[in-house]
Amino acid sequence: MDKQKLIMLPGPTNVSDRVMRAMLGPIINHRGDAFRELYRGVLEKTRQLFQTEGAVLVLSSSGTGGVEAAVWNLIRPGDVAVVPVFGEFSTRLAETVELAGGRALRVTSDFGKVPTLDQLREAVDKQGRFKALFLVHNETSTGVAAPYLEEATRLARDHGAFAVIDAISSLGGYAIPVDRWGVDMCITGSQKCVAAPPGLALLSVSDRVVEFLKGSPTKTRYFEISRYLEYGARGETPFTPALPLFYALDEALKELLEEGLANRVERHDRMSALIYEGLARMKLRPVAEKDVRSKTVIASYYPSGVDDAKFRKALAYDKGVVIAGGFGPFAGKVFRVGCMGQINEGFVQTTLKAIGETMAAFGN
Ligand SMILES: Cc1ncc(COP(=O)(O)O)c(C=O)c1O
Repeated sequence: MDKQKLIMLPGPTNVSDRVMRAMLGPIINHRGDAFRELYRGVLEKTRQLFQTEGAVLVLSSSGTGGVEAAVWNLIRPGDVAVVPVFGEFSTRLAETVELAGGRALRVTSDFGKVPTLDQLREAVDKQGRFKALFLVHNETSTGVAAPYLEEATRLARDHGAFAVIDAISSLGGYAIPVDRWGVDMCITGSQKCVAAPPGLALLSVSDRVVEFLKGSPTKTRYFEISRYLEYGARGETPFTPALPLFYALDEALKELLEEGLANRVERHDRMSALIYEGLARMKLRPVAEKDVRSKTVIASYYPSGVDDAKFRKALAYDKGVVIAGGFGPFAGKVFRVGCMGQINEGFVQTTLKAIGETMAAFGN
């Protein structure tokens, strides 16, 4: 087995010993009182994370399952969904809308940028009626964050459409007050800023969506949201939950709330600023323009001549620091550093030192 390294990926991220140990809890009946107490506690803390009084649920699936759930529960054949597309995950989201029989109205920008709010307004006004806006908050593939969640949510609602935010790589590092902003569905993953192991998707669901689902059954069983809410009301999940991950999530959410969401967000602000500053000192250029730089995923161009695979291998095996490469058009040209969850000054300094020394070893 590989030795535990410093995981500076944009997910999964480092998990505390306390959370890892929680997974050793006993196997219990998921239709019994002990699980009900565990799941009710998880749901209550999840509400605090999303800042909602409304419905929340946890799926035994990675983040993609959460996105599929949102799309398949809201989109019916022929529905139009507006999707800002500015990287790999928003591209996948638009494709998922099409797989569900919908029409994805893509509002695009170059990768590394974000479609502007004016572009969205223009597309929406031209379109007229549409069913939902699906917005990836933080494009993990490019290290770019959309800076207008609240405004985009209002835009969708003003057009009678649902506002859905994929906050898989941001919630917990950013605050998204779901009720205050009127977000209909927000999705995150256990393995990012929540700092639990991978394998769970967390979702919030507005009253409007709950009402809509009553009159419009979905074509998916595993991801049928109304079924999760019905079971959730009695502390259960419809299907067998990934129990050890629920123990871990419970502990990770406790850790998060002990720190306080506002403090955690502020820590992500500070740590990402340190990473950007450190990379700038090494004359490394971020992919994202300043006003849309992500606080949770820092993507940077390599200096010319540095081989991505060799660089990251040296970083992992000589320095014990694991970072990610680029996606699509950025493959081989860009590396990405996660700034999520447990991130602290020690992790940041170790990572910057390791990047600096490895760049030097590669002649830069
Ligand atoms: C913004 C975004 N959406 C969706 C996903 C897919 O999540 P998962 O890999 O957990 O299925 C990711 C994963 O990195 C992501 O960052």
